[in-house]
Amino acid sequence: MTTIQKASSLQDDHLVILCSSVSALSRYGLGHAEIDHVRNNFEKTDRKLVLFTGTGRHVYVLKKDKKDNPWKTVELIRKAGASTCTMLNEHKIKAVTIADTDDRSEHLLALAEGIALANYQFLKYKKNPDKEKNSLVSVSIFSKSVKPSALSELTILSEATTLARTLVNEPVSWLSAQQLSKEFEKLGKDAGFRVEIFNKAKIESLKMGGLLAVNKGSKQPPTFTIMEYKHARARNKKPIVLVGKGVVYDTGGYNLKTGTGMETMKCDMAGAAAVGCTLYAIAKAKLPVHVIGLVPATDNRIDGDAYVAGDVLTMYDGTTVEMLNTDAEGRLILADALSWGEQYKPELVIDLATLTGAAVAAIGQHGIVSMGTAGDRVKNKLKTSGNATYERLAEMPFWEEYDEMIKSDIAEIKNIGGPYGGSITAGKFLAWFVKSPWMHFDIAGPAFLPARDGYRTKGGTGVGVRLLFDFLKNYSN
Ligand code: BES
Ligand code: ZN
Ligand code: ZN
Repeated sequence: MTTIQKASSLQDDHLVILCSSVSALSRYGLGHAEIDHVRNNFEKTDRKLVLFTGTGRHVYVLKKDKKDNPWKTVELIRKAGASTCTMLNEHKIKAVTIADTDDRSEHLLALAEGIALANYQFLKYKKNPDKEKNSLVSVSIFSKSVKPSALSELTILSEATTLARTLVNEPVSWLSAQQLSKEFEKLGKDAGFRVEIFNKAKIESLKMGGLLAVNKGSKQPPTFTIMEYKHARARNKKPIVLVGKGVVYDTGGYNLKTGTGMETMKCDMAGAAAVGCTLYAIAKAKLPVHVIGLVPATDNRIDGDAYVAGDVLTMYDGTTVEMLNTDAEGRLILADALSWGEQYKPELVIDLATLTGAAVAAIGQHGIVSMGTAGDRVKNKLKTSGNATYERLAEMPFWEEYDEMIKSDIAEIKNIGGPYGGSITAGKFLAWFVKSPWMHFDIAGPAFLPARDGYRTKGGTGVGVRLLFDFLKNYSN
């Protein structure tokens, strides 16, 4: 983890300066010639970065471009942080101080966030991790405006996001369903929230037919994890329930995926990681809320006893499901978790899942496909948090006509719709099992990236943690 703290003075530190006023650069020890050089670059070229390395200390001056919208400006700064992070590491710099000529707290925090998130690495399986390790370990913020509380919140949130990334990056050879539950237990101990794990026998006694069906082809037992964080003065009277898809590996089952489709399927528990790490973050930050996290977990594999297309399942709530594609497994395990969640009489349920290729086809990796039955107030608040964290939400239609597409001839519903609107029919399947106000976030696009994109590193992104944290922080009912 990159540490983030306040800088008491500037001294001879390596510096990154967010600059909207060139003349203000004299405050940071830049001479006339240097300032003129920056001015020439910023005013006469379209360069956004000027770098001084001559004097032993490195100074990076970043031009602060203002977008038409405050949250777009903030995102631009996060991205500038990410490119600066690459350069700092190329120059083998260990510690850097950041400043802003406007001394705007939200801009400095965004810069620090961009640097810290971009500096993440997953080196557990490298033979010589030290050789590949980034040099940068610490970011100090030189500012009067940044509050200590905002700083500790950023530290918690970056840590939680990178924890989620690591869980996603862990292969199933290590991260079985049981291991995932143990990781949640560790997070609970560390941050102070309650964790209860149901084992296979308990899941059988509860008749969670969806989770058990998907698990039939596996040598590893399923788990069902319940996490609970309750602040003494929670703003919500009834709990908010978060549900995360915990498919630790998705081969597709007998509807087997092909090579490239399967390659990244260790990411199929990204929803679960987001839920566990959100609980971690809100508990560490002691947000005044009451949140319950539910994670059904298993791998989806082939075996002599594995479930097959045509099977009819009886779910935890008694619904019969004609199971027509073993690769539509996520909705089966989520359905049981969603109907389990109803007993808490939640005021809001949100599930996160790498649920459909159709969501990726619809909007790619730059946003979250969203749909659900929550009211406009909640939807708007979620959208605002999505923009603020740049984990943006794209809402799909959720018309009742889609309900028809999952009706079954021989059971109540079936686990696939037609060839079109696949992310919506998946959502409709989930909706069958929830009566409370509910939102479904299909994170199949942004959960796992084939290449770095700004401060989102290659592989697991930890998507969902920053979004949910922001939403819960601003929650009131
Ligand atoms: N885990 C996949 C969805 C997925 C695709 C996640 C790409 C991340 C990236 C899910 O279980 C799945 O296989 N869905 C099927 C559903 C279909 C059989 C109705 C799909 O989208 O193809
Ligand atoms: Zn699948
Ligand atoms: Zn899946």
